[in-house]
Amino acid sequence: MTMELNGKRVVLGITGGIAAYKAAELVRLLVRQGAEVQVAMTEGAGHFVTATTFQALSGRPVFTDQWDARMPNAMAHIDLSRQADLILVAPASADFLARVAHGLADDLLATMVLARDCPLMVAPAMNRQMWENPATRRNVAQLAADGVGILGPASGEQACGEIGAGRMLEPEELLEAVLAFFTPKLLAGKNVLLTAGPTFEAVDPVRGITNLSSGRMGYALARAAQQAGAEVTLVSGPVALATPAGVTRVDVRSALDMQAAVMAKAGAADIFIAVAAVADYRVANAAEHKLKKDLGGVPPIELVENPDILAGVAALENGPFCVGFAAESQNLEAYAQAKRQKKQVPLIVGNLIQDGFGGDDNRLVLFDDNGVHPLPPASKSVLARQLIEHIATLTGAN
Ligand code: PMT
Repeated sequence: MTMELNGKRVVLGITGGIAAYKAAELVRLLVRQGAEVQVAMTEGAGHFVTATTFQALSGRPVFTDQWDARMPNAMAHIDLSRQADLILVAPASADFLARVAHGLADDLLATMVLARDCPLMVAPAMNRQMWENPATRRNVAQLAADGVGILGPASGEQACGEIGAGRMLEPEELLEAVLAFFTPKLLAGKNVLLTAGPTFEAVDPVRGITNLSSGRMGYALARAAQQAGAEVTLVSGPVALATPAGVTRVDVRSALDMQAAVMAKAGAADIFIAVAAVADYRVANAAEHKLKKDLGGVPPIELVENPDILAGVAALENGPFCVGFAAESQNLEAYAQAKRQKKQVPLIVGNLIQDGFGGDDNRLVLFDDNGVHPLPPASKSVLARQLIEHIATLTGAN
């Protein structure tokens, strides 16, 4: 399966700090996404973690010494940094930030950073007083001014027991930052509005009609659009997913709530992507109090049709470019084309329920004016990236 960082070469620098143990998970995540990871450790890092761990996880020898005899030309700093698309230092200690801010080259990692011709990102990790110290503030400001990406730190409980800013971002957050870095900004300046997840149509205060949409496809698209440079608003039905970084999320429950939230934002949107599995019907006679079994007979539930949110947005004058989804259990092409026609949208994304509902992977077929475009089966994140590229091409955004 296609991975998101295939062919990308990342040098991961690890400096001395308790958060160094989290770098092991970061290497695993980067490698799982297809990145080639070359680890370089400072001497200080070696007091917290061993090179053996990182060699095993990255599948490559780890470098710590500028004079490493494994480099035939004795130029580890040049050779390793020239091969990189990105240098990420995580954790980056206060001492390391100070050395880089001042252009020092007193160990292999600092020398690589000074000799690099690729971007540098750092994930600071230190005690909160060290982070707040005016000297560190000056160094971080200098690094930012020099174009270094500063990732975090987060606030919270620290290894020393104190509470405050200085915790390294979690490995998953750092992976997201790396993915965002490598994503072409095809939707820069665009406003993207999405719906995702199921809706929940109340029967009484505790029961309702819903479906098995997990929200994963819509959330993956929101994340891919944000990483492609768009301003993203995600109108979400009830799901158990974390909001993608940098995305504005509006939580709703019913189709009517979803329609109101979408219509409030649609005027400002350039692109609208309707991924939600919206209930076709809602309960007209929802009970104010919990329905009781002993009332005699089966409670009558009257259904009334919900408004079609996508068709409503597509009908707006000067409205956004609209993308619909169609989940079918059979006859995908015929049903998807019929939905494209009925809702009057330029692009419908078809998927089979057995491929797409719930899980992490999917298989998408795109139907637009130019024809039918099947995408190979892949994870929802990879497909989301490909779909965003297709939308950017259709809208002339890239
Ligand atoms: O959430 P996951 O578990 O990741 O699963 C993803 C998915 C399978 C739910 C998703 O990929 C998908 O196919 N979503 C659309 C589901 C569907 O078939 O919807 P529909 O046929 O009822 O509607 C067609 C289109 O109109 C959809 O874009 C839908 O969002 C939109 N619609 C439908 C009804 C309605 N009242 N308002 C709408 O906007």
